[in-house]
Amino acid sequence: MVKKVFAVFFFAFSAFIVISSWGVRATLSQDAQAEYKDNNCVSCHAKLTTPYKLTSHYAEWQISTHKEKFVGCEKCHGGDPAIKDEKRAHQGVISPQNASSKLFPKNLPETCNSCHQGIVSSFTESKHYQKLKEAGIGPSCSTCHIHMASQVLYTPEETATMCSTCHNSPNKLMPPRPEIPEAANNVMQSIRRANTMVLWADRLVEQADAKKLDISDQKKEQKIARAMLAEAKVSWHAFNLDSVRKKADDAHDMSAKVKDSLRAKLFPQQ
Ligand code: HEC
Ligand code: HEC
Ligand code: HEC
Ligand code: HEC
Ligand code: HEC
Repeated sequence: MVKKVFAVFFFAFSAFIVISSWGVRATLSQDAQAEYKDNNCVSCHAKLTTPYKLTSHYAEWQISTHKEKFVGCEKCHGGDPAIKDEKRAHQGVISPQNASSKLFPKNLPETCNSCHQGIVSSFTESKHYQKLKEAGIGPSCSTCHIHMASQVLYTPEETATMCSTCHNSPNKLMPPRPEIPEAANNVMQSIRRANTMVLWADRLVEQADAKKLDISDQKKEQKIARAMLAEAKVSWHAFNLDSVRKKADDAHDMSAKVKDSLRAKLFPQQ
């Protein structure tokens, strides 16, 4: 039963995020294309126009950070990108719906671990990971990150709704814990606020650099704020919600301090 609900909300949210991600990633540079000229997974799939499942997954990769960072299809799906022939290239490519696929939800943490060790080791600390391994229940990487991970399930409301499907569902699949979605909403707001403040301070750093001001202290503090924010994002994957919020709030406060002192240097008359 829980499994079924998991599947339903997974597809609903995937569709939602795919739609909301187009605008965001469409602006990435197309330069990486040349890097894939000998990759037959890419060149063949780029030409396919049907069915929806193939063309939409290709397009998601095309606009993703993974593409920009040279993570080709084979890095996750297997197969041999050097072979032109479809059948032979596909040897080792298994449908992600098949429990033996590296991309089956239960197996994703190990697959993504080859490049995202910090995040995955945080995730493995959680009850979610235990339940996923034991019973195939609980969110996996692709629950929150759509195919290609080009977008994260991001707004506080979306996140809380997702947590509610299990932790506060009307049909009482699990003991109701309304405080979990509420805390998740707060954590997401806190991460968002910290993201924005770091960006704001970055812009002031650029302005101060352009004016050749001495801001070495501010740059040091900004670097620490960035590291704290990155740490908050990593530890979110362990679902210790209070501790994530504290880290994100600390990152925010540190960047806000940088922002204030840069403004005082840049605009002393105000
Ligand atoms: C010459 C063209 C061609 C090449 C090369 C190719 N593919 Fe495909 N691929 C296809 C076609 C056509 C389909 C649809 C096959 C079908 O439905 O029977 C497909 C299907 C797939 C699917 C969906 C399978 C499923 O079970 O739903 C995946 C995943 C995939 N390819 C990955 C890859 C990867 C990874 C590579 C490189 C290692 C690759 N492809 C190379 C043409 C190609
Ligand atoms: C970062 C890892 C990653 C990369 C890189 C990647 N995929 Fe995927 N792919 C996944 C995961 C995870 C799933 C299953 C979840 C989903 O469908 O969103 C999947 C599912 C698919 C499916 C649907 C298969 C099915 O039977 O439902 C297709 C088709 C596909 N990918 C094609 C591609 C192609 C083509 C490329 C390269 C252009 C590619 N993928 C690159 C991780 C990846
Ligand atoms: C071959 C290495 C590789 C694999 C395998 C891989 N990734 Fe990534 N991923 C990267 C790189 C490189 C980046 C760019 C950011 C960075 O340097 O950490 C990235 C970025 C991301 C991002 C941030 C996306 C963004 O737009 O900023 C997410 C989320 C992500 N990966 C999730 C996953 C998931 C989920 C899997 C498993 C299905 C996976 N990755 C597998 C290399 C990989
Ligand atoms: C419950 C939802 C959820 C699950 C499950 C989840 N993530 Fe994330 N992930 C997030 C959020 C939220 C962020 C931070 C978003 C942001 O950058 O503002 C994030 C960020 C990331 C990043 C980028 C980190 C950075 O510093 O920018 C990577 C990489 C990533 N996740 C990989 C994974 C992998 C691999 C898994 C599976 C082991 C996974 N995630 C499972 C929600 C989730
Ligand atoms: C697919 C169902 C599912 C979803 C979605 C889900 N969880 Fe869970 N969660 C579980 C299961 C199962 C457990 C383990 C419960 C147990 O062992 O008592 C759990 C446990 C937890 C725990 C530990 C509770 C405790 O008291 O030890 C926290 C915290 C938690 N989840 C937070 C979240 C957050 C935050 C979200 C949304 C981002 C979320 N969960 C989404 C299924 C889910």
